[in-house]
Amino acid sequence: MTSTLSIRTPDDWHLHLRDGEMLQAVVGHTARQFARAIVMPNLKPPITTVEQAKAYRDRITAALRASQGADAAAGFTPLMTAYLTETINPAELELGYGEGVFSAAKLYPAGATTNSDAGVRDLANIQSVLETMERIGMPLLIHGEVTDPAVDIFDREAVFIEQQLIPLLQRHPGLKVVLEHITTADAADFVATGPDNLAATITPHHLHINRNALFQGGLRPDFYCLPIAKRERHRLALRAAATGGSSKFFLGTDSAPHPRGSKESACGCAGIYNAPFAIESYAQVFEEEGVLDRLEAFASVHGPTFYGLPLNTGTIALERSGSNDSIPGLMELENGSTTPTTLVPFHAGEALNWRLNQAQWHTKAA
Ligand code: DOR
Ligand code: ZN
Repeated sequence: MTSTLSIRTPDDWHLHLRDGEMLQAVVGHTARQFARAIVMPNLKPPITTVEQAKAYRDRITAALRASQGADAAAGFTPLMTAYLTETINPAELELGYGEGVFSAAKLYPAGATTNSDAGVRDLANIQSVLETMERIGMPLLIHGEVTDPAVDIFDREAVFIEQQLIPLLQRHPGLKVVLEHITTADAADFVATGPDNLAATITPHHLHINRNALFQGGLRPDFYCLPIAKRERHRLALRAAATGGSSKFFLGTDSAPHPRGSKESACGCAGIYNAPFAIESYAQVFEEEGVLDRLEAFASVHGPTFYGLPLNTGTIALERSGSNDSIPGLMELENGSTTPTTLVPFHAGEALNWRLNQAQWHTKAA
C-alpha cells in the first residue's frame, strides 16, 4: 500500500477566516496546506469596498505572520471577495477586480446564513451588478438556497436552482458562476450538465456526513452547517461528482469556525471547522472511492483553471497515519490574547488514513 502521497499544492476555493482573535487562531491551519484561499466576505460589517478588502487582506497576512512566522505569511495568498448588497456600486467591483483585489463576488440571499442580513432580497435589484460582472469576467459565487420559510430546509437548494439559478443563467449566459458548497444530487447533476461557465465547490463534510449525523446519539451541533447535510443518496451523488474527474467540481472547504460556546448553545451557529485536517479529509474520500490519483486535479487544478489563475508550483506531502494518530476532540488555539480560542474540529476523535507532513511548508504559487 502506498505510504506517501505528494500532490501539487492545493487551494481552498471557499473559506471563512473571520477577523481579530479568531482569525489569528485559525489562519495557520489553512496556510499550512493551501497556497491560496478564496476568503468569504461575511464579516460584520461585510466587505463591500476595495479599501475594506485590502485592509482585511493585510490583517490576514499580519495574523499569519504573528502566529506562524514570516515564511508562512509569504507562502499564502488570500484571494478576496466582495459581498453583494442591493446597493453595492458596480464601479467598485470593476475597480477592485481590475486592480486584482477582488477575485470574485459572493451572493448571499438575505437571511440564508451567518451574517447574510445585508445580502440580496431580489436579484432584480442587482441586475446592473451582474451585467458588469458578466462583461468583465468576474466570477459570481452563490450561496444557493431560497430563504422562504415555507420551503422545507432540506429542499432549499433544489428550489433555488429551479426558481433563481436557471433564470439567472438565462439572463446572463456569459457570467462565470460557482454554485458553492453543493449538497444535493440535484445540484451535482445541474452543474455537471450545465455550460462551461458553471462550476461548483464541494466541502469535505458533505462528502462524509448525511443528515443522520446531526442526530447521532443526540443533538450534534458540530455537524450543523448551511446548506444543511441531506439524505444519503445526495452524499453519494456528491462523492461521485467530486471523485469523477469532471473539471466542474473543485475543492472548497467552507471551513466556518464558531467558538465552541456559540455552537453548543440553545441556538447554535451554522458552520463546521474543517480547516485543520481538510486535505486529509478529502484524501480519505478519494481513497475510499478508489481514485486517490484524482485528488490532485480536484484539489489543485480544476479551481485555478476555472478562475483563470496559474497552478501552484510547489507540492505538499501526505503520509499514512500511525495507529495512534487521531483527530483531537478539542483544539485550544493561540490567538494573541491571554485566553485561547476553543474549537471542535471536524472528525473530532476519529482516525483518518492520511496526515499532512508537518515538517514542511508548501512553496508559494508561481
Ligand atoms: O455553515 C455555514 N457557515 N454556512 C454558511 O453559509 C456560512 C458559514 C459561516 O459563516 O458561519
Ligand atoms: Zn461559506
